[in-house]
Amino acid sequence: MTKSVLVAVAWPYANGPRHIGHVAGFGVPSDVFARFQRMRGNDVLMISGTDEHGTPLLVQAEKEGVMVQELADRYNRQIVEDLAGLGLTYDLFTRTTTRNHYAVVQELFRGLHDNGYMIKQTTFGAISPSTGRTLPDRYIEGTCPICGAAGARGDQCDNCGNQLDPADLIDPVSRINGETPKFVETEHFLLDLPALAGALEEWLKERQDWRPNVLKFSLNLLEDLRPRAMSRDIDWGVPIPLDGWQDNNAKKLYVWFDAVVGYLSASIEWAYRAGRPEAWREWWTSPEAESFYFMGKDNITFHSQIWPAELLGYRGLGASGGEAGELGELQLPTEVVSSEYLTMSGSKFSSSKGVVIYVKDFLREFGPDPLRYFIAVAGPENNDTDFTWDEFVRRVNNELANGWGNLVNRTVSMAHKNFGCVPTPAELTDADQRILSLAADAFDVVGDALEHNRFKVGITHAMHVVGEANAYIAEMEPWKLAKDESQRERLSTVLWVALQVVSDCNTLLTPFLPHIAQAVHETLGREGVWAATPQIVEVQDDMDVAPVGVGLPEAGRTYPVIMGDYVNQQAVWQRVPVVPGTELAKPKPLIAKLEPELGETGPEWAPVAK
Ligand code: MF3
Ligand code: ZN
Repeated sequence: MTKSVLVAVAWPYANGPRHIGHVAGFGVPSDVFARFQRMRGNDVLMISGTDEHGTPLLVQAEKEGVMVQELADRYNRQIVEDLAGLGLTYDLFTRTTTRNHYAVVQELFRGLHDNGYMIKQTTFGAISPSTGRTLPDRYIEGTCPICGAAGARGDQCDNCGNQLDPADLIDPVSRINGETPKFVETEHFLLDLPALAGALEEWLKERQDWRPNVLKFSLNLLEDLRPRAMSRDIDWGVPIPLDGWQDNNAKKLYVWFDAVVGYLSASIEWAYRAGRPEAWREWWTSPEAESFYFMGKDNITFHSQIWPAELLGYRGLGASGGEAGELGELQLPTEVVSSEYLTMSGSKFSSSKGVVIYVKDFLREFGPDPLRYFIAVAGPENNDTDFTWDEFVRRVNNELANGWGNLVNRTVSMAHKNFGCVPTPAELTDADQRILSLAADAFDVVGDALEHNRFKVGITHAMHVVGEANAYIAEMEPWKLAKDESQRERLSTVLWVALQVVSDCNTLLTPFLPHIAQAVHETLGREGVWAATPQIVEVQDDMDVAPVGVGLPEAGRTYPVIMGDYVNQQAVWQRVPVVPGTELAKPKPLIAKLEPELGETGPEWAPVAK
């Protein structure tokens, strides 16, 4: 049965280019999952975009001395290039400064407000005495009033995990200049989380198969649910769509309120651009549809609490009742898939020092698949993990080049040299049968792992088959058979078996290594697109929508998006028989080996600390 699967990928802030830690968290895992689901024959919609509001953008714009929209435009483009370069197959990667996004965010707010889940309250907001400007929660630090830890932030204490208000902190100081903030009265809209707590808990308790740390963290959040401000004293963001508020340029919706709505607005924009404006509903209002959200662990709260609460409140499913708004009965996440952190502490390029490994540099020097491989096999799936050049070089050389590249290369070379094509097998021996069944069974083993987002288990098993195939060839010694005319039949059988296993391994590795997979597909004498790649397309902000208020994005602007035709690719999750007689050419080297010194020194753009 064909399933509808929404792959919702965290929206990177457009405040700088992406580094490898970012794409290890949300990027590669989501793409492996989406590619696998498409190969399974499911209807995938993979969406995301750049997150362009909030203080992260304002702070960076100030640093660079540019207008914030200009900053967002520049980094939106850069990030689009980074992610498309990695081969991430978004059906649409857009941005939050589109008129459609503003309109959808405002619809969600209105629905929540109409149903009684947005409460107006006078709160204490921090301002900087020296500049008179609002200080965002994250820029205030102090002692946690709950556990007493120093260095708690205005929004949260990382030591005890509790959600805080800046005004609760003991001895608060500004992280920008160390001064003591002044607290002034200010009106805001708060999401009534206590009224949604029951519904949230019911939903969370039904969750199965989540990574244990994600579920535990999410359940813990239920213990201290307080109303949470969904507006800010800031002039950059989506206007609050209510009379008396929407024209006030000094108050906007909180960036996290709008960003998570991006999943929905991007789906709606995708449907519009696909020429089927209602098509997004297949993934959003059908109870059978599944949705998987991919992110780094600092985003869990917003995906397992804030976003589900927004959806429940919009549908009127909390203690205050209400009715679903015009977008209908929007479905909650099936699973929140979160990674831990990829650290780079062993080197000079630790992010705390502001020097990091950028995706752009990485792609220029090594291409996308070595990074995809490293993240899948050694990334922060369940634990914080350190990236080192040493391990990168070792894995690329020993596993990718000597393992996989060598298997393809020697198998196809020998077949080409001795037969010029895929040979015809004669009777199969037990050893032949054994390796063929190992490869055939791997579709279930790896498939089951990918179904459950266990990428390491999946790729490790695929590489185990590669290793066994290399061992099979070593044992059969086809180079010796080739010297003996009387062994011609045995030689064709061994090479046919090896080619079939190469083809199977290539299918198993396709979600992880799509670019290499396309090359192997061609090396096996096959034609056409096996694994599709994303495209960058310039589009216009031209949807017929009606956001309200001041400071809206201008209509008609052009911007780059990632899209692609992933439906017509050939890749399927099953054995594709290799056909005797298929012409083979002498293979080109597939995977370049890296200089061993690179492991000690690192490249000059990200050298290893001495
Ligand atoms: N911009 C946020 C970050 O980089 C992630 C936003 S995910 C979203 O941490 F879906 F909410 F947009
Ligand atoms: Zn604390």
